[in-house]
This record gives sequence, structure tokens and C-alpha cells, in this order.
Amino acid sequence: MKKSLRDIPPKLSRSASIIGTGSYVPDRVLTNAELESMVETSDQWIVERTGIRERRLAADTEFTSHMAAKAAQAAMENAGIKPEEIDLILVGTVTPDNFFPSTACHVQRLIGAKNAACMDVSAACSGFLYCLEIAHQFIATGTNETILVIGADKLSSIVNWTDRNTCVLFGDGAGAAILRHRPGSRGIVTTYMASDGNLSDILHMPGGGCACPTTAENIEQNLNTLHMNGRETYKQAVTSMMRAAGVVLERCGITADDITCVIPHQANLRIIEAMADRMGLGLDRFHINLDKYGNTSAAAVAIALDEAARSGRFQIGDPILLVVFGGGLTYASAVIEW
Ligand code: ACO
Repeated sequence: MKKSLRDIPPKLSRSASIIGTGSYVPDRVLTNAELESMVETSDQWIVERTGIRERRLAADTEFTSHMAAKAAQAAMENAGIKPEEIDLILVGTVTPDNFFPSTACHVQRLIGAKNAACMDVSAACSGFLYCLEIAHQFIATGTNETILVIGADKLSSIVNWTDRNTCVLFGDGAGAAILRHRPGSRGIVTTYMASDGNLSDILHMPGGGCACPTTAENIEQNLNTLHMNGRETYKQAVTSMMRAAGVVLERCGITADDITCVIPHQANLRIIEAMADRMGLGLDRFHINLDKYGNTSAAAVAIALDEAARSGRFQIGDPILLVVFGGGLTYASAVIEW
């Protein structure tokens, strides 16, 4: 007898937990002192306005996929899984190796995850959390079992190294997490994603796409580099991250004080201080590493999560809050039971 689709029981919703994390930053350190010889700036200005002391730069031959694959390998090792077990790879990036194939496909080749489907997600600095949300849903519905989520960017490849307004802020790196259902754990309790395309021009790269192709003239005008309205981005960063944090805390019925550790986007220490102030939390509740790496875009929150987990800032069962914002404008948050 022919089987009807109605005879097949619907998949039950199940939780998705982070069972391993990893990260990678290149060896090359670019200090504020070195930047003083490149543009008109000073270590004092950079530290006072941003909290950044140094950042890492990938070599010319080291691409986003290479950094992503190294972070993925560390995450697989941490989770104790083999590459063949991964059935989906999601990479949040705005500096892909190529327009296509996706950076996720390059990562698949580099780590030997031959059973995975692969795609990139473009959400600037929010890329890792956007990917985490997608992975969460795919595991909850039973579509996938083991998902590799990566945030990776080589922002040094799109920074205008003569523009002091932006070049002091960014660095390169990658962070990764392995997601799987872990019986008995709530894992990712809730996530929130939002965007405001009306603010797309406060932080963007005008050139390179079909709207502004890579021509000698466009390159001459630096249209293939990152452009930012710093003050407006700062304002939106605090507002949007506070909104995102508020939504997930309210959904869980908890307050900021119930959170063991906040992993915020690592863009500017003053942005994090403003958030801590508004949330009524001490800065010691936040994991901060932007002094060492600057803003690594989609990698920032993923690297910070890996560092915080490995340094024992929280234990299994602790509630943690991830919150980010980025170009688009995009912003996102998640409450996780570790
Ligand atoms: N060194 C020295 N002086 C500088 C530098 C520099 N590197 N950069 C700017 N200045 C000067 C400016 O020219 C300006 O001079 P002026 O007063 O003579 O015009 C002065 O410093 C103050 O400039 P502001 O822009 O007002 O400085 P502000 O205090 O706002 O700090 C900053 C600038 C650090 C960029 C801040 O606005 C900020 O952090 N914004 C958010 C940026 C951000 O988070 N971007 C990442 C988004 S995430 C993503 O998707 C990639």
C-alpha cells in the first residue's frame, strides 16, 4: 500500500548544544606603535577611544578559509568528533575567498568534511550568531545532526590602510563551534536576529559587487574598501545590542544579573562599558579580548566564546549571553545553557 506523508510522524523539536569550540588568529601582530608610522594616530588615542592595543594580520597567502579551517579543526578536536560526522557547514563572513564557491565549500575541502552541505551567511559582524541561529533551527527540526558553525574574516583585505578612521579598528581571525543535540541539556535556549537595511550605508563596502564593479577607477576611489560613519555606528551599536539582549532575556524570563558571562561583540571597549552600565552589570561579567585582536568582524564573538570556555569562565549548565551587531545593520543575541 502506498504510504501517505500524513503517516510519517513529525520530527519532535529537540535542543541544540555547543559541544566544542575552537579559534585561530594569525601570528603576525600589528601594534598601535606600528600604526603610528602608517597613519597620523597615536597609541594613546587608539587605547582611549577603543581599548585596542594590537591586532593580528593574516599573511597575503592566508585566506579566510585557511583561518576558518584551523578554527574548525580545533573545535572538532575539542568536541571529539571526526570531519565525516559533520553534515552542515555554515560560515559567517564578509571577506570570502571568492564570490563563489562559498568559503564553507573551501573549508569542507580543507578539513575533509565530505558529508556536509555548505553555505556562507553574509551578516558582517553578526555572521557567527546568524549561523548559530540557523544551525539551532536545523537541529531542532531534525534536518541535521552535527553542524559546524564558523565566524571568519580577513578584514585586513578590505581595510583602507591610509584611513585612520577605520584601519586602527580591525584584525583577522576565525572562531568555530560544533552543534549537536546533547540529551539532558537545554543548549541554545533562545536566539534573536534583526536587521535594519535603512542603515546600510553607515558601515559598508560600496565596490566589488554588480552595483559598483571592480574597475580601475573604482579602486582608485577606494570603493573596494570598508567605509564607516564611526559616530553613527557607535550609537546604533549600543542601541541595537541592548535591544537584542533585552529580547532574549525577556523570552527566558531572566534578568542580566542571572547571566554568568556575557560575550559581546568586540568592537570598542566604550561600547561594552556603555552596555555594562545600562545592564547594571560589572565589566568583569563580560569576556573582553579586543585589546589583543581588535574587531575581527564575524570571528569576534566566536573567538571570545572559545577563549572564555577554555579559560573556565563558565561551567556546564551556566547561562551565558551572546550579543552582536554589524554592518547591514544587523544585530543578534542568544541565551545558552552551557
Ligand atoms: N587617530 C587619531 N585621531 C583620529 C583617529 C585615529 N585613528 N580616527 C579618528 N580620529 C580623529 C577624527 O578625525 C576626529 O578629529 P576632528 O575632531 O579633528 O574631526 C577625532 O579623532 C574624533 O573623531 P570621532 O569619530 O568623533 O571619534 P570617536 O570618539 O567617535 O571614536 C570610533 C571613533 C573609535 C571609530 C568610534 O566612533 C567607534 O568605535 N565607532 C563604532 C565603530 C564600530 O564599532 N565599527 C565596527 C562595526 S562592526 C562591523 O560590522 C565590521
